Amino acid sequence: TPATPLTPSELPTADSFAFAFDIDGVLIRGGRPIPEAVEAMKVLNGENEYGIKVPYIFLTNGGGKTEAERCIDLSRQLDIEVAPAQFICGHTPMREMVEKYETVLVIGGEGEKCRQVAEGYGFKDVVTPGDIIKDNAATTPFRKLTDEEHSNSRTRDYGKTKIEAIFVFADSRDWACDIQIILDLAMSKGGYIGTLSENFDEGPPIYFSHNDTVWSAAHDNVRLGMGALRKSVEILFKDVTKGKELDTIAFGKPQIGTFEFATRLLQQWRKDEHRINRPPETVYFVGDTPESDIRGTNLFNEKAKNDWYSILVRTGVYQTGTEPAYKPRVTVDTVLDAVNHGIKREM
Ligand code: G3P
Ligand code: MG
Repeated sequence: TPATPLTPSELPTADSFAFAFDIDGVLIRGGRPIPEAVEAMKVLNGENEYGIKVPYIFLTNGGGKTEAERCIDLSRQLDIEVAPAQFICGHTPMREMVEKYETVLVIGGEGEKCRQVAEGYGFKDVVTPGDIIKDNAATTPFRKLTDEEHSNSRTRDYGKTKIEAIFVFADSRDWACDIQIILDLAMSKGGYIGTLSENFDEGPPIYFSHNDTVWSAAHDNVRLGMGALRKSVEILFKDVTKGKELDTIAFGKPQIGTFEFATRLLQQWRKDEHRINRPPETVYFVGDTPESDIRGTNLFNEKAKNDWYSILVRTGVYQTGTEPAYKPRVTVDTVLDAVNHGIKREM
C-alpha cells in the first residue's frame, strides 16, 4: 500500500538553520502582502522539495500596536499563524525598562494604542501628548483635541508631575504637536511640564523605537520614518537652545541589543514550538534597508556565536542599480528568492 503523505505537523524540522524577517518592504507594503511573501511562508512551512519545515521569526522596526494585535494582522496578511512568541517590533525590547521609570510620556501611533502597549508592558503611569494638551490647550496653538481625544485624555496637574522618560513607540501622527511637547520636556527643569531649565541639560531621556529615516510603504517612493522625526527633534533643540546638543537613544535595528533580543526569542521559539534545544548554526536575515537590516545583521554576525547571514531584497527601500551603504552576503529580487537561496545553501 502507498505510504500516507505526512501532514504539515508531522514533517521533520530543520534544526541547523532558521530565518528572521524584516516586515515592511520584505513581506508587506502599505498593509498589503508582497505576493511572493505568501509563497515564501508556504515554502518554510514544508511546501519545498525536501519536505522540511524551517523555524522563523519576525523582527520589524515598526510598531504602534500590541504584539498580539500585530500578529493577528500578519497572520491574516500572510495566510499563516504568527504567534507573539515569534515576533519582535521596535518597541518590544523597551518593555525591559519598566523597572527603571514610573511616569513616562509615550508618543506616536493611533489614538490610545501606544498607551495600551506601554501599560501592557507594565509601565505604571503612562502620559500621552493628549493629556498634556487637555491640561493646557495653549501647549499647541494650532492643535485642538477632538471630542474623542478629549474624553480619552486624562486630567492631572503637570506642575507636579515629573516625566521620567519619553518613549517614541510609533510614527507620530502630528509632528508639530509631538515635537513641541518633546522639546518642552527636553528644555524643562527635570521633566516638569511648563518649567524651563537654565542650561537645558536636565530633561528626561528620550528613546526612539528605531532610527529609520525612510521606510517602504504603499507609495512607489520611500516615506519619511521615525529617524526623520528624531533628526528634526535634535536639530530643533540645538536651534531653540542656541547651540546645545540633545542626545537621544534609538532602539531597533541596527542596534546589537535588538539582535541579541532576537537571538533569545528565536532560541525560546525553537525550543517551545519545534523541540530544538540547540542554537542554529546559521540565521538568515532577510531585509530591504541596508542601513538597519544589513548593517545590523553584519555587525551582529561579527560577535554572535552563530552565523548571521544577511540577504537584501529589491522590494523595498533598497533600489536596484544603487550601491547599498552596507553590503549583504547576497542580494535577491524577493523574499521567496531569499528563502529558496537559504534552503538550497543548507541542503
Ligand atoms: O516604521 C516601520 C519602518 O520604519 C520599518 O519597518 O519592518 O522594515 O523594519 P521594517
Ligand atoms: Mg523593511
